[in-house]
Amino acid sequence: MIPDKAPKEDVFHGSEDLKKEAHINSFEKYKELYMKSIENPDEFWGDIAKDFFWKTKHTGQFLDYNFDVTKGEIFVKCMEGASTNISYNLLDRNVHERKLSDKVAFYWEGNEPGDELTVTYRELLQRVCQFANVLKSQGVKKGDRVSIYMPMVVELVVAMLACVRIGAVHSIVFAGFSAESLCERIMDSQCSLLITADGFYRGDKLINLKLLADEALQKCRDKGFPVEKCIMLKHLSKEAEETSLGSQSPPAKRSCPDLQEKQTGRVKKTRPVPQVPWNPEVDLCWHTLIRGASDECEPEWCESEDPLFILYTSGSTGKPKGVLHTVSGYMLYTATTFKLVFDYQPDDVYWCTADIGWITGHSYITYGPLANGATSVLFEGLPTYPDISRMWEIVDKYHVTKFYTAPTAIRLLMKYGSEPVQKYKRESLKVLGTVGEPINPEAWQWYYNVVGERRCPVVDTFWQTETGGHVLTPLPAATPMKPGSATFPFFGVVPAILNESGEELEGPSEGYLVFKQPWPGVMRTVYGNHQRFETTYFKKFPGFYVTGDGCRRDKDGYYWITGRIDDMLNVSGHLLSTAEVESALVEHEAVAEAAVVGRPHPVKGESLYCFVTLADGVTYNRTLEAELKKQVREKIGAIATPDYIQNAPGLPKTRSGKIMRRVLRKIACDERDLGDISTLADCSVVEQLFQNRCYTAE
Ligand code: PRX
Repeated sequence: MIPDKAPKEDVFHGSEDLKKEAHINSFEKYKELYMKSIENPDEFWGDIAKDFFWKTKHTGQFLDYNFDVTKGEIFVKCMEGASTNISYNLLDRNVHERKLSDKVAFYWEGNEPGDELTVTYRELLQRVCQFANVLKSQGVKKGDRVSIYMPMVVELVVAMLACVRIGAVHSIVFAGFSAESLCERIMDSQCSLLITADGFYRGDKLINLKLLADEALQKCRDKGFPVEKCIMLKHLSKEAEETSLGSQSPPAKRSCPDLQEKQTGRVKKTRPVPQVPWNPEVDLCWHTLIRGASDECEPEWCESEDPLFILYTSGSTGKPKGVLHTVSGYMLYTATTFKLVFDYQPDDVYWCTADIGWITGHSYITYGPLANGATSVLFEGLPTYPDISRMWEIVDKYHVTKFYTAPTAIRLLMKYGSEPVQKYKRESLKVLGTVGEPINPEAWQWYYNVVGERRCPVVDTFWQTETGGHVLTPLPAATPMKPGSATFPFFGVVPAILNESGEELEGPSEGYLVFKQPWPGVMRTVYGNHQRFETTYFKKFPGFYVTGDGCRRDKDGYYWITGRIDDMLNVSGHLLSTAEVESALVEHEAVAEAAVVGRPHPVKGESLYCFVTLADGVTYNRTLEAELKKQVREKIGAIATPDYIQNAPGLPKTRSGKIMRRVLRKIACDERDLGDISTLADCSVVEQLFQNRCYTAE
């Protein structure tokens, strides 16, 4: 339970200035509202829902659910009977009712300094309607799934909200994923259309996105799932046509027909541009399609529990899970968490550095901020390009007030000391946020002291793709902070800590983090596999949603996430399943068996340490090592590239043949204290592995 009084010692507080304007400015007020959200959720959320537009009002209970597998099917229903459209709430409502038509929705900052665009709410509404009409003209209907594989550009937001406008379900695939991963996701959600771009730059590196998209579509075709249409945005613009036309094929077949018309025109620096292969039977040009499309589009009114989007997240069995979120609950939850956790005020300029391809970008670049009529920075580039001051340069350029990033970025920048930060003023900053993995107290202190100059509270937000929005988090002007703790639950969220036998622990304790009841934004199912949803999150401890994270509660009631307790790794804030990497490795003919574990990494949090047992007659060498790394990169994406690969003639197994990963983790870290290994079938394997350890990562 939440303590009555906040602790006074060893805690940090937000500034008095922040408290003056804050929505929730004391711990007591937080506690009072929290109790209301639990004891009277209908009234609590009902009041919030009044701010939104509903075509029809909900009838009955605000939330109806079953979290207990022993009592029947798991379900969560929020605001049954209500109908609405999120794009209407995010755009029309802001333009027409709140008179925000000229307010900036996004400052787009390109990879290259100087590449920039400003988009107002009115413009965003028009562009969303226009593209929604395009989708309709291509036969996309309510309930159809549309796959989006795009860089961080305004059109990505336009594409997602155009789907929402017509009730189609978007499935965004992070543009860093491989063609294979894209194909797998397109097929799993049976998408009828793909939206992509010619390419983009990440720092100095050109990513030829269209080539990857084509490769993915070819794989889909080979597997008997032809996707009929692919819409391509010209992001790298006009120059594309000059260098992309290969000599072998006739230009009409190879180039995007509308490349002459440069509508985007924002990438100023001349750079090599990607090859743009063109298949006229499938490919359509974004710019050609929107020409002449009306910028008015009546929204499709959706039921509360209609699907909104699917977003894939790694699953411990290896196959990614399509997490499904639905309309009303997700809208209310992301809007409310955004407003209260960042203490959003109308004159804020907010910047979340995540990619929209991940849940953080969905909830806290698109849905939450737009629902509040906020102005955000949408950044295409990297924190280190062209130099390590880029973040702070952007903060000063746009006068960013609320800033949200990941511990891995903080640790990376921390390595370069305070000088690159202090080159910029950062006077506008008021609240700092972090997400994605536990933040180590040293990084927290640096963020608080150096970046925020002890003025800005740090909101350490714990949540998951599945939770839709923040579930454990401080409120900046109400919660005294402890570096490294995600502090207390958000409104409507009831956490508990269980031991291995499923008993709930009281007071200071450590165990499995679970939630006792749903909140509006929690996922509803795994797309196409409700059974997997129940097994993954509800079977282990009937009656609870199981997060998969370990957690400690201290004497003051603060929650501290201790990390994953399943076979998932968190590399730079991205969850990866060890099984997925292992299966990519064993697909190589030289590999007979693979076992992957995490090894602590000073910047990434965890790095991938892979043990491979080779097939008979194969010898291990540098070429094979490079091939294996490439194999994983191509199967999953660059984020999964192994840091270490060790030749393992044998793996430590129990007599029943189970790999003892606990022992492998120790070997990866060169820790000799192995605990009890009496169940190992052959102990000599362990010594051999210690002797062959990898000492350097590339
Ligand atoms: O292990 C937790 C970690 O990230 C996992 C969720 O990953 P994903 O679904 O990709 O979503 C990431 C962005 C919300 C969690 O199960 N995690 C996320 N935020 C924190 C965290 N661990 C500790 N502290 C956090 N603030």
